[in-house]
Amino acid sequence: RIEIVTDLPEETCFVDADPSQFDTALVNMAVNARDAMDGAGRLTISVRAADVMPSMRRLGAVEDAFVAVSVSDTGCGIPTERLEQIFEPFFTTKGVGQGTGLGLSQVFGFAKQSGGEVTVASKVGEGTTFTLYLPRVSGEGRATEAVPEPELLADGHGTCVLVVEDNVEVGTFATHTLAELGYETVWASNAQEALEELGKDASRFDLVFSDVVMP
Ligand SMILES: Nc1ncnc2c1ncn2[C@@H]1O[C@H](COP(=O)(O)OP(=O)(O)OP(=O)(O)O)[C@@H](O)[C@H]1O
Ligand SMILES: [Mg+2]
Repeated sequence: RIEIVTDLPEETCFVDADPSQFDTALVNMAVNARDAMDGAGRLTISVRAADVMPSMRRLGAVEDAFVAVSVSDTGCGIPTERLEQIFEPFFTTKGVGQGTGLGLSQVFGFAKQSGGEVTVASKVGEGTTFTLYLPRVSGEGRATEAVPEPELLADGHGTCVLVVEDNVEVGTFATHTLAELGYETVWASNAQEALEELGKDASRFDLVFSDVVMP
């Protein structure tokens, strides 16, 4: 059982950021919190206006208007010596199929791209807090119009895709979806099979759609 608590400011804060990347970053941090808590604990999401971004990673403190968005958990915590590595792409302590190690690198990339930073504070056995600092902007002239629906996915026009995927369900889903979108597919269920397909005639493939980590 995980209790979810929100701690929001009375006055709405605004940032200038890509909404879907912001969503993804929050989900990535929340999913990590869930994983760290092993089914029981408290997830706290807080938003506050901040006037200084603390010093971190060899950067000094920056005095400016920020919005601090924190995701805290009461999970297992992260050992100090590991804090340097967790934002690296593909760094994971989770098993194959459980984690790819891309969640926090997305959060880090999003923070940087938005002119901000992400910090982490953690205590083993007590929990972890990730905080995104994003430049605060005034709410004036903000996008009030609904975000337009993304354009329809382009039709595949018979483009041939080599799908390399060991998981039967994921492979079935990927090949069916690609076929519906008008792509030709050849499915290899491991790297060896994929290399054999490429060996037969690599020129029939226009692209490779592959899992990142396979046993
Ligand atoms: N809230 C947290 N509590 C404890 N450890 C964490 C927390 N968030 C991240 N970590 C550690 O940092 C590592 C990297 O996290 P990251 O989100 O980048 O990858 P992942 O969760 O392993 O995989 P993915 O997000 O791609 O599914 C995790 O494997 C875990 O060891
Ligand atoms: Mg993750």
